[in-house]
Amino acid sequence: MPKDIDPKTTPHHVAIIMDGNGRWAQQRGRPRLFGHHAGARRVREIVEACPDLGVKYLTIFAFSTENWKRTQTEVAGLMTLFRKYLEREAKDLFEAGVCVRFIGDRVRLDDKLVSLMDELELLTADNDRVHLTVALNYGGRDEVTRAAKRLAYEIEQGRLTHDDVDAETLSKFLDTHVLPDPDLVIRTSGEARISNFLLWQSAYAEYEFVNTLWPDFTRDEFAKVLVNFGGRARRFGAVPA
Ligand code: FPP
Repeated sequence: MPKDIDPKTTPHHVAIIMDGNGRWAQQRGRPRLFGHHAGARRVREIVEACPDLGVKYLTIFAFSTENWKRTQTEVAGLMTLFRKYLEREAKDLFEAGVCVRFIGDRVRLDDKLVSLMDELELLTADNDRVHLTVALNYGGRDEVTRAAKRLAYEIEQGRLTHDDVDAETLSKFLDTHVLPDPDLVIRTSGEARISNFLLWQSAYAEYEFVNTLWPDFTRDEFAKVLVNFGGRARRFGAVPA
């Protein structure tokens, strides 16, 4: 672990909105997908850096419920990129001790991609070095809506009553039910928006907006953001003693 990373204050769970691939490609006069491919290479570097930086959980926003509005060429290119990435990286992720999970609605994703996701979850289920969660066709509102629907169904079936509905019970129906809440949410590319990412789970997260475009976000910059987080006073709504 680098000397300025303090294991006592390093975030346990970091979530990242990987923004700026399109602009990165545009700056080089290349198609947007060129930027997404460069972004995928960066994912690998950041995942590999986690154990050394003391980050146990990493959650990345790969495709949102709103990203279907992009051109058909870009959407299809991204889906092919995800498929190829999973095929290519599965063995290395497994051997590196990464436990991979996916959150988001799988219904709209193609069958081949969903089976690769299922296989990778199964293959890496017992790993515990780093927990990587990939948000794919994910939206915070959509996730809470799906959870509420399932909760309503349980009530309808008589397995729960309306008195059982509280934050803890609702959390159990979210895609993230096995994950701790994020301590830190990073967004690259200079935009200061949440874009429907982990709305419920980030209630007490710290946010860091960095200007770097995602394909340029290095391990060293990641480490700097973590050091900065270590200096923040988190109060969770309470008054400091
Ligand atoms: C946002 O940049 C990025 C995305 C919508 C896609 C994220 C995908 C990757 C980083 C590819 C690899 C991911 C995995 C898990 C293999 P943007 O296109 O909105 O950029 P812009 O704001 O500059 O247009």
